[in-house]
Amino acid sequence: MNQEIRERTKWFMDARFGMFIHWGLYSIPACGEWVMSEREMTAEEYRPFFEQFDPVDYNPQKWVRLAKEAGMKYAVLTAKHHDGFCLFDSVLTDYKSTKTKAGRDLVREFVEACRAENLRVGLYFSIIDWHHPDFPKYGDRQHPMRNNEAHKDERIDFDRYLEYMHGQVKELVTNYGKLDLLWFDFSYDDMRGEKWRAADLIQMVRAYQPDVIIDNRLEGAGDSHGSIATVNPLVYSGDFASPEQLIPPEGVCDEAGELIPWELCTTMNNHWGYCNFDHQYKSSQMLVRKLVECVSKGGNMILNVGPDARGNIPEESVRILKEIGGWMEKNKESIYGCGISELPKPEWGRYTQRGDIIYAHVYETPLGALPLYGIKPDRLADVVYLADGSNVNRGEAWNTALYPDVAFVSLGDNPVFTYPLPDERDTVLKICLKQGFTEKYERQRH
Ligand code: GLC
Repeated sequence: MNQEIRERTKWFMDARFGMFIHWGLYSIPACGEWVMSEREMTAEEYRPFFEQFDPVDYNPQKWVRLAKEAGMKYAVLTAKHHDGFCLFDSVLTDYKSTKTKAGRDLVREFVEACRAENLRVGLYFSIIDWHHPDFPKYGDRQHPMRNNEAHKDERIDFDRYLEYMHGQVKELVTNYGKLDLLWFDFSYDDMRGEKWRAADLIQMVRAYQPDVIIDNRLEGAGDSHGSIATVNPLVYSGDFASPEQLIPPEGVCDEAGELIPWELCTTMNNHWGYCNFDHQYKSSQMLVRKLVECVSKGGNMILNVGPDARGNIPEESVRILKEIGGWMEKNKESIYGCGISELPKPEWGRYTQRGDIIYAHVYETPLGALPLYGIKPDRLADVVYLADGSNVNRGEAWNTALYPDVAFVSLGDNPVFTYPLPDERDTVLKICLKQGFTEKYERQRH
């Protein structure tokens, strides 16, 4: 991993937690952002959503404040998704929010809201476009017209598409001030890398936005991280890996075994775009623990919301985000700037670490005293509950003598009794050690 990427991604890796926002015309049919492809709809069949689009409640400040309340440090909005509809005022198309009843550049308002609230701002941009006439259709893996014989012998000019796509990216990187992150989506089959003229694209982006952080999907996608994981990545390999809906068992490392920046993207229910019948929401407890898991493996989590057709984030998502925020408010110190602990994963939960401070994330009520695996009793300086700063007492086991190398703490005053966890979701113990043991940790981090 080169130094330039390390420096560029520093804020990102410290931030750890972001909000993904999938929003567009597909919030009207309300069954996710792939509806056009799933139902194999023609552009004309999809058009009524464009005519209908009227997000009367759109107020990005509300979204951004909610993200902040949840403890998120950045937000990424779909400026354009695969359906080709733009939430920004592109001069290259009329298929954009300014031409709908909304009549406004919704990306601009979003970007401004993020800045006003001091949140880092990112834009998602689909390099796939099911609306553009020069995008491959018949026989493509997922184009809505993949089975439509009418497009079988159609002549397209893919270069024209690339010009359009590059032109739109240029608009995004030149018309909206400094962007912190660009999330391109996605490559598949032979549609990857230079097929997108990716080197040119990145050079152009970097000319205007030298510090912007870019994902790895101009080349990689669900089926591979791309060459970001090689020792000599390409100019378009990206700054971070983007595993989707699955936390990599051991984080993401390059060929040399060195940890590289990565971000799990995940949904709150089972859809990215608004879906009015999907109520399979993950609990705030689960999401807190998944965030901790990402951090404990050196990665980030970007958690999605799919606002509805009026522009409101679903109530369930709001509730869950506020619950996460309640936990973050007290425990964020164990997340921001934290990463892999040099201690092995304890069976009752997880460890995160920053410098020589260890955070024990305890999920399971211990039977008797809690063993702080990996920490010798004489190395323990003090242990407090992160949520309120109060002391955690030393514990003992009936047979402590059998475990001379493990420090024990008690969640109550009796050193051997069993006590409930103060926070069932994740009780965080802040552990300060006598001598620092930062060496391995620093090596992993940078
Ligand atoms: C996917 C999907 C897409 C979603 C994205 C988020 O590749 O195509 O709908 O936006 O992942 O990671």
